[in-house]
Formats: sequence, structure tokens, C-alpha cells
Amino acid sequence: MGLRLWEKYLLLGALAILGIMGVSFVVMNDYEPKAINGESESAKLSRDIVARKAFIDHEIGFNSSLYGNADISKRDHVKDMMKFAWDGYKKYAWGANELRPISKMGHSASIFGSGKTGASIIDAIDTLYIMGLKNEYNDAKRFIETELNMKSIRGDLSVFETNIRFVGGLLSIHALTGEIVFLQKAQEIADLLLPAFDTPTGIPLALVNVKTGKANNWAWASGGCSILSEFGSLELEFNYLSNLTHNSTYSNKIAKIRETISQIPKPDGLYSNYLNPRTGKWCSKHVSIGALGDSFYEYLLKQYLISGKKDLDAKKLYDDAIEAIENHLLYKSAKNNLWYFAELKGARVEHKMDHLACFISGLFALQSSNEPTQERKDHFLELAIKIADTCHESYARTETQIGPESFRFTQDAEAISLRETEKYYILRPEVVEGWFYLWRVTKDEKYRDWCWNFVQAMDKYCKVEAGYSGIRNVYRINGDYDDVQQSFLLAETFKYLYLIFSDDAVLPFDQWVFNTEAHPLPVAKNV
Ligand SMILES: *[C@@H]1O[C@H](CO)[C@@H](O)[C@H](O)[C@H]1NC(C)=O
Ligand SMILES: *[C@@H]1O[C@H](CO)[C@@H](O)[C@H](O)[C@H]1NC(C)=O
Ligand SMILES: *[C@@H]1O[C@H](CO)[C@@H](O)[C@H](O)[C@H]1NC(C)=O
Repeated sequence: MGLRLWEKYLLLGALAILGIMGVSFVVMNDYEPKAINGESESAKLSRDIVARKAFIDHEIGFNSSLYGNADISKRDHVKDMMKFAWDGYKKYAWGANELRPISKMGHSASIFGSGKTGASIIDAIDTLYIMGLKNEYNDAKRFIETELNMKSIRGDLSVFETNIRFVGGLLSIHALTGEIVFLQKAQEIADLLLPAFDTPTGIPLALVNVKTGKANNWAWASGGCSILSEFGSLELEFNYLSNLTHNSTYSNKIAKIRETISQIPKPDGLYSNYLNPRTGKWCSKHVSIGALGDSFYEYLLKQYLISGKKDLDAKKLYDDAIEAIENHLLYKSAKNNLWYFAELKGARVEHKMDHLACFISGLFALQSSNEPTQERKDHFLELAIKIADTCHESYARTETQIGPESFRFTQDAEAISLRETEKYYILRPEVVEGWFYLWRVTKDEKYRDWCWNFVQAMDKYCKVEAGYSGIRNVYRINGDYDDVQQSFLLAETFKYLYLIFSDDAVLPFDQWVFNTEAHPLPVAKNV
């Protein structure tokens, strides 16, 4: 089915403005959704409308306000970085999970079994589209249409990673373009994950073997328990998938998890990072907003926002969890009054913050602009700003001006790594992500300046012959690379950098919610 007449005019109008302004944005001229076999006409129809609505709203965002406060030359520099990283992957590692940019060959992360899954392609495609890299987008689309086949992979798929990168990435590009093939693939891949949910509590296991359908937990995770950030980061994708397919299989899985975590007693209001999926009891006590905890908190807030603020239960769970975290884990350093979130291991406080945990400044910024009272707005904005400052300090105190994997606070040291094993940087996005949200919310130029410094540092210390590489020690300028171009560089780091130098009308927060891999999904509307 084609566009209705008024929609055509609307679209034409928007495109004309686009054309006049010379905006390089992919225009979907073959926008004709293809049907999934056997699907009812009405299901197809309403799904098309949801998808197209997101698409049209997005295009309309690109009018004269587009250049309002964009910094075009910096934005385009980031686009060039993306193209350079993509070209290296395409030339030397096409179809592999990731690129080894120094050895110039493919790299296979163990989280997606073994096989040609093209993780970098699926993770990158929405970024390519948003940046208007049309040829690159078309190459990625062709791979997904003709080669992507997760059913054929050997070994175990990580339910969490597969969901946030593959299902999330495919749903996002579906939402942006309305192309049905992406939805079809997202559903196909989500179906492979379903055996993980067959537990007495509905809390899923971490790994699924695609060939056998057998699910398992990581052996290292507190004696085979499920991980909070993993089972807590499925909701945005699974609900949206049910919404688009009119099949409640996926949202039912999520409802069961919600029920379990709502009912479980939480000592001091805190969630541990490990839960036993058979008994529904906590395993060893480790509380953190960094690794193993992080995106559980993120998805509670974002589920509330993506529902059009209808899912009040999610907001309540979020508010309670954050209150407990603030009460028990928020500290201020002695010398420089740097605010940070520590971790709790049993009864012991570990004064360490992960690079991963820096995402929370972005989350608080987003929360602050959605709180009803001025008092709460101010409170969470202050937290966001203070944490972003601390994360910036972790960057500013290194030789490379790039921050480490984890940093610590002691009598003498503040925001510095003290262990050799945590001085590396693997192209992670969370610090930049925080600055991006804060830029949108505060318009304080310092966030753009920090991002631009980081861009220059990346070009100096991470750029190699065929792409960008992680480095082993941010405190040394010695060219010690890890030789991996992580797929999240393309999905997240470059996307946030591109967006901070773009106008706010590009993917506005009141219409899009970014999943934890930076794949934007549309906010539910009262259609
Ligand atoms: C352009 O964008 C602004 C701000 O989003 C909006 O108010 C206005 O209606 C848009 N104009 C057109 C022609 O779409
Ligand atoms: C999609 O989600 C919205 C908001 O969560 C809900 O109101 C709507 O009924 C859903 N539609 C379908 C078809 O599931
Ligand atoms: C919903 O999806 C599940 C998983 O793919 C499938 O088994 C089931 O038949 C579907 N239900 C309907 C009504 O299409």
C-alpha cells in the first residue's frame, strides 16, 4: 500500500525543504513495505502506520531548525570518522563480527557464537542512515536481506548482547525507514532467544545455543545466576516487537520478569547484580550502577518514557531503586569534591567507578527534563552535572586525555586507575553519552568542547591504518593497541558524537528513546 494523499504532500514538503537546504540525508525513495508471509492485512496495515509515522515525524524534524545550533564542520568530521571506520571493516572484515584494524582481518567476539553474524553491520546501520551515508547504508541493508542468518551460527548467543545489538538495531532501522525486512529479521532473531525464558521465575538465562535450543548461565556469574543488567535490558525491544507484530509472546516474557522483580524483597531497597532464575532469590550481594547493574536502571526509566509516560509502575520501580542507590552508593571525594557512585560487595564499599557507570549522568539529565516538579528537576540535573564532571576528570587526568575502564578514589588518588588491569580504553561511549544528554538539556558549550577534545584524542591515539582501535593504557603514549574496533564504536560512540554537533531536532528526546546500544526507538503515540 502506498502513502495517503495528504501524507504524500507532507512528505514532499518536508523533502523539498531538505533538498533546498542540501541536507545529506537518506531519502527512502523505494519506501514500499514488503509483507511478511502469512500475516493478516490489518496487522500489516497498522504496523505500517506506526513505522511510517515515526519516519515522517523524523523527516519533518529536518526543517530549518536543523541547522539551528548544529556545528556543521565538527559534525561532518565525525561523519568522516564513521566512514573511515566503516570502510576498513568493509574492506578487511566484511561479514565478521568486528574488524581488527591493525591486522586487517575479522574479529569474532565470543558473545555471538561463531559464524558470520556481521555484528558491526547491524550495529552500524542506523548510524549510517542518520548520517546520510547512503551507499554504506545500502551495502548494510543488502547484507541483512541476503546474508544475515543467525540460525546457522555455532556456539552460544548472549541473550542480552543479541537483544540490544541485533534486535534493537534492527527494530531501530525499521522504525526509521519503515522497511519490513528489518522487522522480519528482528523477529527471527528474537525467536532464537525465547528458550532462555523457560525458567520457573521467568528470569531468563544468559546464553542460548541456537543449534540445540539449550539455555545456560555464565559459569562465572555467582555460581550460575542470572545478571541484573542482562535480564533487565530486554523490555524496550521486546515490547516494541510485540507492538509491531501484534504478537504478545515477547511482551509476555517481559511482564513475567517485571512481576518477579516487583515481588522480590529488596533489602535497603537495593538490587543485587545476581539473581537465581530457579528460586527467584538473590545470589551474592554486589550492587553497582556500572558493569552488571547499569542498564537495568536505564531501562526502567526509558520504559516509562517510551510508553508515553503511561507505564507508571516502571517509574515507581526506577524512583525507588535510584533513591536506594543514592542513599547507599553516592560519595564525594575528599580533596576535590568529585561526586561518584561506589559499589557494594557484601558489606564492603569499593570506591571504584566504571567507565560504564558514567552513562548515569546522561540518564539523570534525561530524567531531570521529565520530572514534574522543579525540585526534582534540579536535584537530578545537579547529579547529572556532577557525575559528568567526575567522568571528565577521569579523562583529563590521563596522558591521552581519554579515560580508563575503571577509576578509583582513595586518600591520595581521585578519578584515577590504580590497577594495571583497568587502564585500558576500548572505544566505549558512556562518558560521551553523558555529555551528549547534558548538552541537549543545558546547552552548556563545555560539553561540546569536551567531546571535540575527545574526538581529537581519538584521532591521535586510537586511529590506525584501517580504522580505530582500543588502547591498553590511557596513561601512556606508547601505541599499545588492542587491535579491535568494537561494534559499539559504530552504534554508539560515533552516533552520540554526531548528534551532539547536530541540532536537537535530529531525533528529539520527546519522540525517540535510545536503547542501551544507542539504537533509537519511537515513543508510543496515541495513534
Ligand atoms: C520546523 O520545526 C519546528 C520545530 O520543530 C516546527 O515548529 C515547525 O512546525 C516545523 N516546520 C515545518 C514546515 O515542518
Ligand atoms: C503499542 O504500545 C502502546 C503503548 O505501549 C499501546 O498503547 C498499544 O496498544 C500497543 N499497540 C499494539 C498493537 O500492541
Ligand atoms: C507469536 O510468536 C511466537 C514466536 O514466534 C509464535 O510461536 C506464535 O505462533 C505467534 N503467535 C501468533 C498468533 O502469530
